Amino acid sequence: MSATKSSNVVWHKPTITRDLRQEQNRHKSTVIWFTGLSGSGKSTLAHALEDRLYHLGTRTFVLDGDNVRHGLCSDLSFSDDDRKENIRRIGELSKLFLESGTVILTAFISPFRTDREIARNVTPHGDFIEIFCDATLDVCESRDVKGLYAKARAGVIPHFTGISSPYEEPISPELSVDTGSKSIEECVDQVLNLLVEREVIQPLTGPAVAA
Ligand code: ADX
Repeated sequence: MSATKSSNVVWHKPTITRDLRQEQNRHKSTVIWFTGLSGSGKSTLAHALEDRLYHLGTRTFVLDGDNVRHGLCSDLSFSDDDRKENIRRIGELSKLFLESGTVILTAFISPFRTDREIARNVTPHGDFIEIFCDATLDVCESRDVKGLYAKARAGVIPHFTGISSPYEEPISPELSVDTGSKSIEECVDQVLNLLVEREVIQPLTGPAVAA
């Protein structure tokens, strides 16, 4: 457990455990951590995957960078330190979701390797699946879905990832998906296969949950 500034706090052990919740859900919980440039398809893939998982009877939740920055992380900017704090919070939040028996899908640029490692390291070994949404800067910039790359090039948005702030590609993610050229459905299938392989969910040919 990490150091805490609060004194006199005592860990309360839950009676309803992760194991019991997983048993009730009839699938395991895990953290699926999507990383990649803005516009690389993290959120689109996370939501398309969630759609498929939902219809297989899986308990899921998507944490999305843009959305979380409207609430829990609305006090954070895009400085290196604030991104670090953003990812630290999401790592801790994911860990709580993991205990709740949920398959948690996170869609954050999470540009720095060390910050992603911190998120991985607060998670029990084997429960953190890092997925690199591999789309080049050229592709993301040509999509420019939110018009932010144009603003970043014009100098209106400072510290923009890929333009004026770095993005460190994962060295050995659990999976790389070619979101630059493959269809979303192909990418979803790739992730689903990995989840079956890791026995998070049951094989797709069989029933995902009992009726
Ligand atoms: S992270 O770097 O801290 O992981 P996060 O995923 O929460 O970033 O937020 C990224 C989203 O914020 C982008 O998809 C984009 O819509 C928006 N955004 C606004 N300013 C920036 C910026 N300077 N760099 C990157 N993304 C930005």
